[in-house]
Amino acid sequence: MKAKRLLSLPPYLFEDLENRCREAASQGRDVIDLSVGDPDLSPPDSIINHLKTALAEDRHHLYPPQRGTAELKASIRGYLKDRCGVEPSDDEILILIGSKEGIAHLPLAVCNPGDTVLVPDPGYPVYTSTAQFAGCAVDRFVLEERRRFLPDFKELATRDLSRARLLFLNYPNNPTSATATDAVFDTALRFGDEHGFVVANDAAYADVYFDDRPPPLLCAQPRALESPMIEFFSFSKTFCVTGWRVGFAVGNRAVIDALAHLKANIDSGVFGAIQAAAAKTLETDGDRYAGAMRATFEKRRDLALESLGRLGFHCFPTYATFYVWTRVPGALNTMNYALDLLDKTDVLVTPGTGFGDAGEGYFRIALTQPDARIEEAVARIAALR
Ligand SMILES: Cc1ncc(COP(=O)(O)O)c(C=O)c1O
Repeated sequence: MKAKRLLSLPPYLFEDLENRCREAASQGRDVIDLSVGDPDLSPPDSIINHLKTALAEDRHHLYPPQRGTAELKASIRGYLKDRCGVEPSDDEILILIGSKEGIAHLPLAVCNPGDTVLVPDPGYPVYTSTAQFAGCAVDRFVLEERRRFLPDFKELATRDLSRARLLFLNYPNNPTSATATDAVFDTALRFGDEHGFVVANDAAYADVYFDDRPPPLLCAQPRALESPMIEFFSFSKTFCVTGWRVGFAVGNRAVIDALAHLKANIDSGVFGAIQAAAAKTLETDGDRYAGAMRATFEKRRDLALESLGRLGFHCFPTYATFYVWTRVPGALNTMNYALDLLDKTDVLVTPGTGFGDAGEGYFRIALTQPDARIEEAVARIAALR
């Protein structure tokens, strides 16, 4: 039944792991799931109240403006101005049904079949699948720990980039938690200009950062919006509303226009009441809530890094995102390690190869469980060592 383009996707690696996890839970075993990137915190009260108010307004029950409401775009402008001094115009902002939706549609909007899409390895799997759906060749570049999981542009420059049309970056990074530097973004933009491709940064975790170090953004680089670029943002992680499906892109007018044109043929925008609630929260107490959210994850980050470090695990230092990228101990490969951990301790982690071949040797822990559960998980892992 499935179309060839679906069959061309890489095999789904986690089936065995998920089956075993379900089986363990059905046997009444207490599985601690550290694999999901879905925050366990409640959203701000204000966003719920604003949504309730907006639900009573008839105008929100009609089709929303295709590219997003003026109200939400205005609060995004305010947010970006405070965050990094950038004030994009209306046609440099596009509201998305979650950042994943925009990311998944981007290659269809800016690439032609036969073009090449440059994709980080390890990386969020959507970059690869969407490039394949658009009939593009995927050229992976490895993010190495010795380079703090940042791209090696010198190595990329040695490749045949004549068909390159799009480069995906993702900082703050899932799964490694690495953050970029302004120099990396600046080099990427110059590289894109030189070779004529679009630079896309997935900044879904832009507001999940620690130690008062807001990570740099692509759109904040000097004259970024004049280059072929786009940056994706999400309300999902910032306000713990993954189920709401609302995000946005900021970028060069021509790139935003291409994505908006494609989307106009596919969807009809985000429910107006959700846009109204997101706008009000961003404008009013978004900062306060995000601060508290960061403090919660920072405490868990400290807990996980300290306790795993004490056990002799090597974790990449996490300054952003709610992930801890950890080296697999001993000689086991990552999938066998995750299976072993689940079978013997009922702790579920994500094997690194779920993000590409370069994830071999690592596993990812999501800090999306309460402190006590993280402590319990580490105690069980300790017992296994
Ligand atoms: C790197 C990355 N980008 C994008 C997304 C999608 O987020 P959204 O809920 O905004 O679609 C995720 C979700 O886990 C993610 O990890």
